[in-house]
Amino acid sequence: MSSRKGFTVWLTGLSGAGKTTLAVLLATQLRARGVRIEVLDGDEVRANLSKGLGFSKEDRDINIRRIGYVCRLLSRNGVGTLSAAISPYSAIRDEVRLAVEQEGAKFIEVFVKCPITVLAKRDVKGLYQKALSGELKGFTGVSDPYEEPLAPDVVVETDRESLDFSIRKILQALEQRGLIPNADLSRPRRVRSVLSQSWKRHAQRSSTVRAAGRGRSLTLLKRLFLKRQIRKR
Ligand SMILES: Nc1ncnc2c1ncn2[C@@H]1O[C@H](COP(=O)(O)OP(=O)(O)OP(=O)(O)O)[C@@H](O)[C@H]1O
Ligand SMILES: [Mg+2]
Repeated sequence: MSSRKGFTVWLTGLSGAGKTTLAVLLATQLRARGVRIEVLDGDEVRANLSKGLGFSKEDRDINIRRIGYVCRLLSRNGVGTLSAAISPYSAIRDEVRLAVEQEGAKFIEVFVKCPITVLAKRDVKGLYQKALSGELKGFTGVSDPYEEPLAPDVVVETDRESLDFSIRKILQALEQRGLIPNADLSRPRRVRSVLSQSWKRHAQRSSTVRAAGRGRSLTLLKRLFLKRQIRKR
């Protein structure tokens, strides 16, 4: 069982900035490194845990506090949590940070930054058009406040950086804090498992290996086989 501490990566930014996109890819990459991960996505939470809440300041705060509460519980039990909700108010984000840190887990605030002009062009959900025309009221960044983080741990600029580059920045922040195994350590494990699968296939077919069963050292043959595979790469 891993003795690593849990953590919370808190992605904050305007609608369409890329929080969900980043969280989904991050989760995949972290799971591939053997890290236990849960994603708390704004839309999903609003459809379940926060069903019925609206977009008044009060309801937005309740929603974010609920997400923070789940992140705190999971983080203190060794799980990495990724929150992907707009979370427009800095005071509530700071409140969640404090709650997570009081449990001895780390809180990494990631500002997912993108200018509103780009977001209005992306308009993933068709909401900017409605908000800009006045049809939709109280839309964050257009007719409702968004308080940018003053001292985020990571800033990703999704209008300038590739998705891969932004993901690497976040992974590096986690590695630097010792929260996840770094990529170099996870690579040999993968190579070994590929090699051992290929060794098993080879062993089933090979007459040399069958001969080894009649007295030669199987370990030595295995070593030679692995060396040849490594040279081929
Ligand atoms: N570098 C990038 N990082 C993330 N997303 C990007 C990037 N470049 C372009 N995009 C696009 O921007 C859009 C971001 O949408 P996404 O649903 O992830 O935003 P969101 O921040 O979760 O919005 P919401 O708060 O409304 O849920 C996607 O269509 C994605 O393909
Ligand atoms: Mg989203």
